[in-house]
Amino acid sequence: MIKTIGVLTSGGDAPGMNAAVRAVVRAALKKGMTVYGLKRGYCGLLEDDIEPMDEMSVAGIISRGGTMLYTARSAEFRTEQGVLKAKATCEKYGLEGLVVIGGDGSFRGAADLSAHGILCVGLPGTIDNDIACTEYTIGYDTAMNTVVEMVDKLRDTCHSHDRCSVVEVMGRNAGHIALNTGVACGATFVLVPELPYDLDEVAKKMLETKKTGKQNFIVIVAEGIGHSELIAKTLEAKTGIEARATILGHVQRGGSPTLRDRVVASEMGYYAVELLENDIGNRVVGMQQGKIVDFDIQEALSMKKPFDEKLYQISNTISI
Ligand code: F6P
Repeated sequence: MIKTIGVLTSGGDAPGMNAAVRAVVRAALKKGMTVYGLKRGYCGLLEDDIEPMDEMSVAGIISRGGTMLYTARSAEFRTEQGVLKAKATCEKYGLEGLVVIGGDGSFRGAADLSAHGILCVGLPGTIDNDIACTEYTIGYDTAMNTVVEMVDKLRDTCHSHDRCSVVEVMGRNAGHIALNTGVACGATFVLVPELPYDLDEVAKKMLETKKTGKQNFIVIVAEGIGHSELIAKTLEAKTGIEARATILGHVQRGGSPTLRDRVVASEMGYYAVELLENDIGNRVVGMQQGKIVDFDIQEALSMKKPFDEKLYQISNTISI
């Protein structure tokens, strides 16, 4: 059985990463392993910024957003030389296995390191829920609840001024946050990178709705579409309804994780240690039909995530 493992968080942080780190550390210690925490993602390996972890290292973090291990994106690690340097650091500490909490970019690094004999297991940690092999990523629920809270506040002021609020939410290439929060907030329209859109259609719907007496509107725009200021100006020009753009930005990445994120992170962290305990590496942990499962990293990276077009249709039908 593997005796020594490391854990790192990489890429954009997500609420629940701490809960995952806690689960990995505590599960591994219980199984008699030695555990190291690597700071700032793969940079921890390149810069030898590594600390031994005990039960108390992860005490009190399950309720905290961000990541106690810090995070970064490393350009050096993407080179062959960088991977060899990281491998040498693993050997120095006797790290036979590594749990990598992050997104697709972080898993590519995990695959490279796996090819050099370090057993790596990836855990999906990103607010975007844009990892194809899993129906859920750690941080998604918390981020969406933050968006709902913010949009509800925007609705109050929109209502008072008979305005339209164009709200840009995160999701670099993915509209999952936009779609689900759009449904939850009763947005008149949701614009996502996965589907074509037409601002004339949005304006038409707003004007038709106005005839019913409703004077305030929420339009949710995924970051992957962008141009939210321009979209607000265009909708104002087309409808005569005053519009304001709000980019929610990084507030969506912070905050105490929700129950769902804490529980899923704990389950996935524990599962990753079970894989390593059985000398299984080069895997990504995911959720399918509510069950925790795992995939070969390359297979996981080659998968495509379907967009929920049915929910998009529901959203457009029941919102005015
Ligand atoms: O991948 C998560 C995410 O929050 C994206 O939604 C967003 O585009 C990106 O990270 C922002 O990254 P950064 O913090 O580097 O600006």
